Amino acid sequence: MAATLPTIALRSGAAMPVLGLGTWRMGERRDRREREIAAVKAGIDLGVTLIDTAEMYGDGGAEEAIAEAIAGRRDNLFIVSKVYPHNASRRAMPRSCEASLRRLGIATIDLYLLHWQGEVPLVETVQAFETLQREGKIRHWGVSNLDPELMQSLWETPGGAAVQADQVLYNLGRRGIEWDLQPWLRERRVALMAYSPIEQGRLLRQRGLAEFARQRGMTPAQAALGWLLAQDGVIAIPKTGRRARLEENAGALSHPLSPDDLLALDRLFPPPEGASPLAMI
Ligand SMILES: NC(=O)c1ccc[n+]([C@@H]2O[C@H](COP(=O)([O-])OP(=O)(O)OC[C@H]3O[C@@H](n4cnc5c(N)ncnc54)[C@H](OP(=O)(O)O)[C@@H]3O)[C@@H](O)[C@H]2O)c1
Repeated sequence: MAATLPTIALRSGAAMPVLGLGTWRMGERRDRREREIAAVKAGIDLGVTLIDTAEMYGDGGAEEAIAEAIAGRRDNLFIVSKVYPHNASRRAMPRSCEASLRRLGIATIDLYLLHWQGEVPLVETVQAFETLQREGKIRHWGVSNLDPELMQSLWETPGGAAVQADQVLYNLGRRGIEWDLQPWLRERRVALMAYSPIEQGRLLRQRGLAEFARQRGMTPAQAALGWLLAQDGVIAIPKTGRRARLEENAGALSHPLSPDDLLALDRLFPPPEGASPLAMI
């Protein structure tokens, strides 16, 4: 039986799981495809029902691999996909969304994100999202890689306050957003989706983190993810194409960090002391 993961309430009131599976770099190589599909399936078995993807990943290949993994079990899943900035217009977004839906083999995307801000004005992107919502092609919409200034202009755009999430780079080694973006989002109950939550694996080689985790009987990945999951309004979406790592990462939920643990991590990875430009990968 799949466990039910904790959820957070989006501004819309919908529930979104706090831990998901990232899929960047999936669907790119034929020789890895079966393993990746098996990992997504294993994730769902474990209760990891949030899947994060994008039309960009594997040029649609990640969405196709997900389709195979979720066939026959779409109910109870929370599927996030993203539209390229150059497709975020009134004219192009419907085509992009339709193509993602076809590749994913589903009728509705649960949360559709603007991947990053490009040339299309936010007001037009919001209108395109609203149309897709009215047609039932997407349940909710949000953004990614938007800094506080862009979030503020979005907020002031007609319809912009319907934004449900901002997906940004956030992990123990990248805490800059705690200065400005995170409080901004928290005040408005906009969810923060933390991408590259283990810094694409590099964070795990950090000696202090390894020692911290060893002393507490957890792995470095569980410590890094546990730190994100301890925060209000934060969703972590680590990517792995391997079943064993997926189980390890989901295990972060069974090792909650104490207030003392969080202070110890603050000493190892100090919070920001001023504003900095939004970091991206
Ligand atoms: N919106 C954006 O602009 C944006 C940008 C970047 C990422 N994202 C999203 O966020 C997701 C996660 O970010 P990410 O893929 O950049 O990085 P990540 O999740 O921090 O790290 C993924 C890497 O770590 C490895 N890994 C995973 N769990 C591990 C574990 N327990 N022990 C050791 N290695 C482990 C994976 O390898 P294996 O697969 O071989 O296990 C993979 O190479 C992406 O997949 C994507 O969905 C969004």
